[in-house]
Amino acid sequence: MLETSTLGPLVDALRDYDDVRIGDARALPMEAYTSAELFDLEMEGIFRRDWICVGRTEQVARSGDWFTTEVAGEPIVVTAGSDGEIRAMSAVCRHRYMAVASGSGNSRRLTCPYHRWSYDLDGTLLGTPLMDTPVRPDGTPCSLPGYQVETWLGFVFVSLAANPEPLTPQLVGAKETLDPYQMEDWRILIAFDEVWAGNWKLGLETALEGYHLDGLHGGEIAAMMPSKGCQFVEATDRWSCFRLEINFESEFGAPTKPFADAMGGLDAVASPTVSIHPNVNISCSPASTTWLTFMPLEIGTTQVRGGYLVPPDEYERIHAAEGELEFTQAAIAQLNREDSSAMIDLQRSAHSRFAEPGVLCEKEEALIHFYRYLAGRLHNEGARP
Ligand code: FES
Ligand SMILES: [Fe+2]
Repeated sequence: MLETSTLGPLVDALRDYDDVRIGDARALPMEAYTSAELFDLEMEGIFRRDWICVGRTEQVARSGDWFTTEVAGEPIVVTAGSDGEIRAMSAVCRHRYMAVASGSGNSRRLTCPYHRWSYDLDGTLLGTPLMDTPVRPDGTPCSLPGYQVETWLGFVFVSLAANPEPLTPQLVGAKETLDPYQMEDWRILIAFDEVWAGNWKLGLETALEGYHLDGLHGGEIAAMMPSKGCQFVEATDRWSCFRLEINFESEFGAPTKPFADAMGGLDAVASPTVSIHPNVNISCSPASTTWLTFMPLEIGTTQVRGGYLVPPDEYERIHAAEGELEFTQAAIAQLNREDSSAMIDLQRSAHSRFAEPGVLCEKEEALIHFYRYLAGRLHNEGARP
């Protein structure tokens, strides 16, 4: 573990990415994955302040739907109220701190499992068995504290900050890139929720580049989208995009050809992967999208949630077609296995005394932009005494 006094140099090293060009840029110092102080700084400067993707609107499509998540150690429940509005609030009971919900469900109210205090889906305290309904010391109601929510292309983002800068205006270019895929209404064909034994940045970094496809995903996935067809496109301080050329001669690529042809333009030959910093990666192909969210639990432990989205009519067709859902599930499970095993190996070797940052390939240019994002968010935090 680094001494506190080395945190400043680590944050300064991040600042160096402001001036570096791809070709000269190197990977992050390995301490970025092992420093407990940096991890704390990331929670404070990023995960408690920025917009964090927690899921899809489909998970709260019906009144009464809810699901839980955890951001920077804060238990959160996302609900669809009787008015249909999507809200996010602290899941910590106002009585004695039990999480009032876990997992997901559909109900008219949230009832704490400890002593059965119950809450409306907008957070209002409704009932307190065997006692009068209390108020807070200042006389205000004992509601579950709410968080800011924005939805974008069917993704649900939450911010723990009181007044975060609105998200949607920051993603105008990303939306233009993804608009042809019309994924706002796409359905979740496959969902996954796993814990990977590595630092959150290692997972995101793998998702930020297609350079690793031939290595980690040899076989049919690399045959469809080989590393050589990966090209960085653009980035802002909020998001980045690269594209992967599709080989329509491959087993996985061939069925996507009619969808690609229908899209036309650049999307007919190369599909975009867009990452919204800090924690969501949206990887398109002509008739599907795989999304991944990375939620840090501890320095070397990350909750990885995501899924595979398809257009509504494809959702129906695949469910009706014998074996196709199972085939796709197996392919996604393999993809995740390969990426998660890399994350675990990287986290281990980060502790090697021979680990030092190597030169990045031009196909990894999105990494630099992610590092600049980190630098921007952490510099002020790190400069505090
Ligand atoms: S902690 Fe929730 S009712 Fe007691
Ligand atoms: Fe991968």
